[in-house]
Amino acid sequence: MSGSLAASGLSVRYETPHGSVHALRHVDIEAHPGEVIGIVGESGCGKSTLVTALANLLPANARIAGSIRYNGVDLTKLDAHRQRLLRGDEIALVGQDPMTAFNPVLTIGDQLVDFQHHRKDLSRAQKRARIATMLGRVGIADAERRMQSYPHELSGGMRQRVAIAAALLTDPGLLIADEPTTALDVTMEAQIIHLLRGLRREYNGIIIVVSHHLGVIAELCDRVYVMYAGEVVEGGEVDAIFHDPRHPYTQALLACDPARFHDRLDRLPTIPGSLPSLTQPLPGCVYAPRCDRAFAPCGSIAPPLTRLTACHAARCHAVTP
Ligand SMILES: Nc1ncnc2c1ncn2[C@@H]1O[C@H](COP(=O)(O)OP(=O)(O)O)[C@@H](O)[C@H]1O
Ligand SMILES: [Mg+2]
Repeated sequence: MSGSLAASGLSVRYETPHGSVHALRHVDIEAHPGEVIGIVGESGCGKSTLVTALANLLPANARIAGSIRYNGVDLTKLDAHRQRLLRGDEIALVGQDPMTAFNPVLTIGDQLVDFQHHRKDLSRAQKRARIATMLGRVGIADAERRMQSYPHELSGGMRQRVAIAAALLTDPGLLIADEPTTALDVTMEAQIIHLLRGLRREYNGIIIVVSHHLGVIAELCDRVYVMYAGEVVEGGEVDAIFHDPRHPYTQALLACDPARFHDRLDRLPTIPGSLPSLTQPLPGCVYAPRCDRAFAPCGSIAPPLTRLTACHAARCHAVTP
C-alpha cells in the first residue's frame, strides 16, 4: 500500500534542561508515490528531526505541532500502538550508521527473517528466498554466505546495503534514508547512490533522501527541500531548485560552482557565518544575519512562503512570484 505524504505547519521543539530547542518550524512538504524527495541543508538545520518526525520516531523530549498526513491519516494523532504498526509495515528509516540497525549477536539472515514478521503468509524458507533476492537487488553476491555472517563481519558499505535490503523487505510505502552515505568511503558512497537510483525506477513508494551532497540530490531526486535553521526556506522540482534557485541561501549553496553539482561526490559548500541559535527563535528571517541581500523587514518580520509556480516556493522577502 503506498500513498501520498503531506506535512503541514510541522514544528518540533526539544525540551532540554537548558530550555527549548526549536528544531523545526512551520514546515510544509509533500511527496507522492514514485517520487524521490531530497532534503538538503547544513548540519544542525533540522533534517534528521524532520525525517524522524515523518517516521514517527522522535525521542521522548520532542514536542510536535502541525500535521503529517499519510494516506489521508494524520500520523501525529495516532495512538502509540497504531504508530508502531505503521512504522514496522509502512514506513522504514535507514539511518546514518548502519551498525545501529542490527543486533550484533544475531546473524544477518535471522535478522532479515525477523524483519518480515508481518508476512504471516510466508514460510521461513520462503522468507529466506525473498532475502536472497533482495540482497541480490542491493548488489550483494553470495547472499547465502552473507546470511550466515554477523553484522561486524561485514564492511560498512555492505552493512548499509543490508540495512536498505532490510528496509525494503518490510514493503514500505515510505522509505527514508537519512544521510545513508556519510559513514562510507567515496567508492562505497558511489555504489549506494547507484543502488538508490536503480531503486527509483523499480519502487513505486516514496523515497526521501537526506544528503549533504548537492550532486546526489540533483541526480537522484524529483523534488527538493532546502532547509535552514529549522525551516524549509525553498522547495520545488529539482530543475527549479538547481537552475532557478530563488532563496539567497539556496543561491549561496549553488553559487560556488554550478557545474560541480553534477559531480555526485560534491559536498555542501561552506557559507560565511554560522547557524543562529535554535533556543531563541529569531523575530525575522532565519537567514537574515548571514544574507547579503537582507533589507529592512528581514530582521523583524518572518517572511511568508511565496509560491513562485505550482511546485516552487521560497520563504524570502526579496522573492516575488
Ligand atoms: N534529542 C534532542 N534533544 C535536544 N536537541 C536535539 C535533539 N536532537 C536534535 N537536537 C537539536 O536539534 C537541532 C536540529 O538537529 P538535527 O535535526 O539533527 O539536524 P540535522 O540532521 O540537519 O543535522 C540541532 O540544534 C540539534 O542539536
Ligand atoms: Mg542529521
